[in-house]
Amino acid sequence: MTVNVIILAAGQGKRMNSRLPKVLQPLAGKPMLGHVLDAGRALAAERLVVVYGHGGEQVLAAFQGQVDVRWAHQAEQLGTGHAVAQALPECGDGVALILYGDCPLITPATLRALLAAAGGDKLAVLTAIMDNPTGYGRIVRDAEGKVLSIVEQKDASEAQKAIREINTGFIAAPMARLREWLPRLKNANAQGEYYLTDVIAMAVADGVAVATETAKDPFEPAGVNDKRQLAELERVYQRQQADKLLAGGVTLLDPARFDLRGTVEHGQDVEIDVNVILEGTIKLGHGVKIGPNVYLKNVTLGDGVVIKANTVIEDSTVGAGSDLGPFARVRPDSVLGEKVHVGNFVELKKARLGNGAKAGHLAYLGDAVIGERVNISAGVITCNYDGANKFVTTIGDDAFIGTDSQLVAPVTIADRAYIAAGSTITVDAPADALTICRARGQKSIPGWKRPTKNK
Ligand code: UD1
Ligand code: CA
Repeated sequence: MTVNVIILAAGQGKRMNSRLPKVLQPLAGKPMLGHVLDAGRALAAERLVVVYGHGGEQVLAAFQGQVDVRWAHQAEQLGTGHAVAQALPECGDGVALILYGDCPLITPATLRALLAAAGGDKLAVLTAIMDNPTGYGRIVRDAEGKVLSIVEQKDASEAQKAIREINTGFIAAPMARLREWLPRLKNANAQGEYYLTDVIAMAVADGVAVATETAKDPFEPAGVNDKRQLAELERVYQRQQADKLLAGGVTLLDPARFDLRGTVEHGQDVEIDVNVILEGTIKLGHGVKIGPNVYLKNVTLGDGVVIKANTVIEDSTVGAGSDLGPFARVRPDSVLGEKVHVGNFVELKKARLGNGAKAGHLAYLGDAVIGERVNISAGVITCNYDGANKFVTTIGDDAFIGTDSQLVAPVTIADRAYIAAGSTITVDAPADALTICRARGQKSIPGWKRPTKNK
């Protein structure tokens, strides 16, 4: 079945009180419209057409480069029927599936069921049963339960307002029929809009069967109009992701205090403590343990890696058996080998650390290529920036860099070199030697008196 996905995304979203158009408001770090497009892609739809309007430039810019998306402009928001009509020139044959840029939790499974209900010749509507249906279009059925029409809240009689089955807005219909029906829509209703929902009565009049599919989870077709609803769906989405990880064998100490803003691949026996945020593309090996308050973005962790509390790692790779933190900061383009130890208040940037290298505390290692089993003591700084350009520090295998040493790049410390504490190294240090560079002349003054407090 050829599927044309049409996503309505022209609305302004006044209640967001934001300069960002509504469909660009992020859920789990991705614009709501992005989630809806992904649902369409999961169906392998022939065409993805977005009807955009408010914040047009911003919306187009946000999806620049997504070449599978076709765009239809709706200059004025004259109603959902008018919006779908704008998409028709971008559509082909087959079936139309109408989605909404502000309904981000819709799943491919439900959409497949809706398409199956439509078959290719029927019209199918996704409905939901609401305790409080106020505001929604009501599904009007005859005595046999056959759908007759959808009546909007503002046009409904008192009897119709009592109907609890509502229109979620998600509709599948034959393209050829839509091309006949949409031009015939009238806006003689309470809101003066061209209602997409009026095609249901047209289908009935034309003898086209109307099928319904009922959403099992009320959050799935839910729309977002304000920040409160956005926050609510964010929690629903995060809980769903946490449940998937739990089902896959990940231990989450508190699924309610876990956020995934991207995708995660994981091995077995991964343990994640509270308040961990995983962003972008995350890969976790077997037995990885992540402590509380950790932020990882685009990170790969090998088997058995332990990340302790309050550590931040971005765009980096950590080899098997390594441990980082608490309070370690790994900035982009860092590559750590196996069994590397990075302790508290160590900052890495574009640093390579060979297998077994250690930087236990208080160091800055930027633009550094560090060999295997190197020991970086407390207070070591690679001076990688002269105020204009960045330079590389290279440290050979088994070197020892003493406490509070500064390595002024570009500089190379050879294999097994030993740099004495407090040295400022500006010239390459040779292998197998002690290199020391300290101000001379330490002296002691006998009888010296400590300062006393002024009265
Ligand atoms: C619509 C349905 C209603 C259903 C409800 C579910 C119609 C006439 N009514 O009502 O039966 O219960 O959704 O939430 O379809 N949009 C455009 N261009 C327009 C108008 C709307 O892109 O000209 C977009 C909006 O940005 C929004 C969506 O379509 O994302 C729904 O429009 P809205 O006007 O909010 O419809 P409702 O009144 O909620
Ligand atoms: Ca609405």
